[in-house]
Amino acid sequence: MQRIALIGFGTVGQGLAEILLQKENELKKKYGYEWQIVAVSDAMKGSVFCSEGLDVPQLLHLAKENTSLTNYVCSKGCNSREKGWDAVETITKSNADVVCELAYTDLSTGEPAITHCKTAFETGKHIVTSNKGPAALAYRKMKKLADDNNVQFRIEGTVMSGTPILNLVEGPLAGNTIHSVKGIMNGTTNYILSQMEDGMTYNDALQKAKEFGYAEADPTGDVEGYDARAKVTILANVVMGESLNISDVSCQGITEISLDDIAKAKEKNARWKLIGCVENIDDKINAYVRPELMPMTHPLAGIMGATNAVTFNTDLMGDVTIVGAGAGRIETGFSILTDLLKIHKTT
Ligand code: HSE
Repeated sequence: MQRIALIGFGTVGQGLAEILLQKENELKKKYGYEWQIVAVSDAMKGSVFCSEGLDVPQLLHLAKENTSLTNYVCSKGCNSREKGWDAVETITKSNADVVCELAYTDLSTGEPAITHCKTAFETGKHIVTSNKGPAALAYRKMKKLADDNNVQFRIEGTVMSGTPILNLVEGPLAGNTIHSVKGIMNGTTNYILSQMEDGMTYNDALQKAKEFGYAEADPTGDVEGYDARAKVTILANVVMGESLNISDVSCQGITEISLDDIAKAKEKNARWKLIGCVENIDDKINAYVRPELMPMTHPLAGIMGATNAVTFNTDLMGDVTIVGAGAGRIETGFSILTDLLKIHKTT
């Protein structure tokens, strides 16, 4: 039985809870995977802990009704139940094996997520997270702390939601040297550019991207390219073994691209795409995020909506491209599930 604590119960946490409920029998039958959510702590919604496992439909109901988790009612009459713990108390005091860090992303300090990860490792708990803060700002430090405490730091959801990028390189592509990683790494901006091509204004398209749950809590991070820059940094460090800081990646977003630019590109049989890239050329690292005009014949030109695509240039396999969801509630919820299953299989 894997005991899970959720730090953050917003879009991704609720998406994960829905998937776990919906697939409970299938996961048990196929992978022998059994789970309990023993704690939820959310900065806005409050917190609740029960060492014997919380009633997940009730948690989801409270979240949907926008009601505090402190209104949770335990039907089991168990004796180990707490309300009002903050995130650090939840991580420290709960009996969770795995902490899913799903609080908000801060790409300046990485906090409070970095503290959550450190606390989990130091108390012997695995971390699964889609939060780009710790991975982009402190990957080596987090990984070492996890290794030193014999637990795992799993971050599949930080790049392209549940589309297997990091696990692909760690698993099936292991043995290859990766020379470069290049592609469309932000769902919100690709969605906005796609909608603008159909005549929607920038602001309306951004509003829709927020409604669909693609955009960051502060969408400046998407449209200015900061989200893609964090992903380039993660890919450089995790996949290519480099030691890049976010500030090493030059960055330009899509805010300067007008409907007119998009129409002109169309006339030239091309499309603007926000491209993230890290490449090793003769041991020199070049990393950037910028809009690029892609001819329609280029495979990335056909990637529309919130879909992302990344090409790995490898020594043994040449180019390997993966196309899939880059954002979304269920898609990112799945990224957490895939890492939970990985921990289940390897511990
Ligand atoms: N805001 C991000 C995107 C979510 O639009 O791609 C996934 O990191």
